[in-house]
Amino acid sequence: MTLKLKKSKTQYLEEFIQHYNQRTQTSKQISQKNRPCLADNKASSLFSFPLKEISYPIVGKRSCGSKIWDMDGNEYLDLIMGYGVNLFGHNPPFIKQAIEEQLEKGIHLGVQSEVVGEVAELMCELTQMERVAFSNTGTEAVMTAIRLARTVTNRNKIAVFSGSYHGHFDGTLVKAKGTNGSLSAVPMTPGIPPNIANDILILEYGNFQSLDSIKNHARELAAVLVEPVQTSNLSLQPQEFLQQLRQLTQEAGIALIFDEMVSGFRIHPGGAQAWFNVSVDIATYGKIVGGGMPIGVIAGKGVYLDAIDGGMWNYGDSSYPQAQKTFFAGTYCKHPLAMAAARAVLKHIKHHGFSLQQQLNQRTSEFVASLNSYFIEGGLPFQLEKFGSLFGFITSDSFVRANDSNVTMMMQLLFYYNLIYRGILLRGKGGFLSTTHTDDDINSIIKAVKDSANELQAVGFVP
Ligand SMILES: Cc1ncc(COP(=O)(O)O)c(C=O)c1O
Repeated sequence: MTLKLKKSKTQYLEEFIQHYNQRTQTSKQISQKNRPCLADNKASSLFSFPLKEISYPIVGKRSCGSKIWDMDGNEYLDLIMGYGVNLFGHNPPFIKQAIEEQLEKGIHLGVQSEVVGEVAELMCELTQMERVAFSNTGTEAVMTAIRLARTVTNRNKIAVFSGSYHGHFDGTLVKAKGTNGSLSAVPMTPGIPPNIANDILILEYGNFQSLDSIKNHARELAAVLVEPVQTSNLSLQPQEFLQQLRQLTQEAGIALIFDEMVSGFRIHPGGAQAWFNVSVDIATYGKIVGGGMPIGVIAGKGVYLDAIDGGMWNYGDSSYPQAQKTFFAGTYCKHPLAMAAARAVLKHIKHHGFSLQQQLNQRTSEFVASLNSYFIEGGLPFQLEKFGSLFGFITSDSFVRANDSNVTMMMQLLFYYNLIYRGILLRGKGGFLSTTHTDDDINSIIKAVKDSANELQAVGFVP
């Protein structure tokens, strides 16, 4: 960018917006053209009036490996990576081939997929679970896991932790409200009936007092639902807490559910269960395992998954599906394209073993360490935190305390847009590295972050 420094903030903003609009003009035109018919929160979720003219999503035309190209021909190094889907980069040949082969054969939904059994076995082998069922999204997988836990335990209440995200099902869209030192659950957003919160016990993650609350409600609780490392707080990785939670829930007959939508296959082939050495009753997966196709997986102990189909039985004897069943369905469950992609992904993960994640995690650690030293040396109010190959920017507490929330938001948004302008796509305040990000890519990202921070510092948006 050729903006001169030491400009007033207003002048800087005017020029930045103009340059940004020039560079991404087709994305802006498409966004405006679509708005009358398309209800889409992509542009409005980051809406801020001073940045209104650049509040639009970049429209992607093509992607390959670590890169995406937009409608104006701009090239981006992608760190959104499908919100964690693209562990192997965009359009990896082994997944593309699997999907193409299935497409050639047809998308027949009413009959059984010919590979579903192999996908189920691979899932069980990698996650060390006994049985699995397939849904279409992570949200559905979590919703089903909760229903299975309620069916088997014959209890209603679910404990969740403040700051966790479990998808967009009403039953988990709650937030914590503090009253007299204890937390209570309230709907997170309009449209969620308040009585949904009656069946939710909301607790502080990683706080050992939360274990006492679980003990106190043990007889009402069907499940404790955990996002093992919250994407909103990557530094909190409470292994000891999780191990004690496992022991407590086991003793109380409460289902322990790990929501492994992000951690699954990313931190370790066995996900957070293997990483923290905690075996849970039910784990939910999605994202990476679908290789870009929509998928959700509910994996768990037989006693819970048996509530899907009544449990194991054989031909030629007197056995039959005996377990109590609940309702589970979905037109697109076990979709042939998703199954073909999942088979390719799981075989790839099995073949490469933990070294795939270890190397990527190590490269992410070096990337994060390099930028963190830069932030510290420059006295910049940013830090990066990480879990495996997922990282997030945080703004220092001292900056947040000393400034109006609008000032903080403006700084964060400008940093985000400045990076897009320099060809780096972030997921909100962080991102994912994939196995296709090269050392050159990482160096370019580091340079772009430094250049953005310097530019915003020079004009006064960053102290
Ligand atoms: C931890 C976690 N659980 C559940 C979900 C919901 O998955 P989906 O968006 O596939 O419905 C997400 C999505 O980001 C997630 O991060």
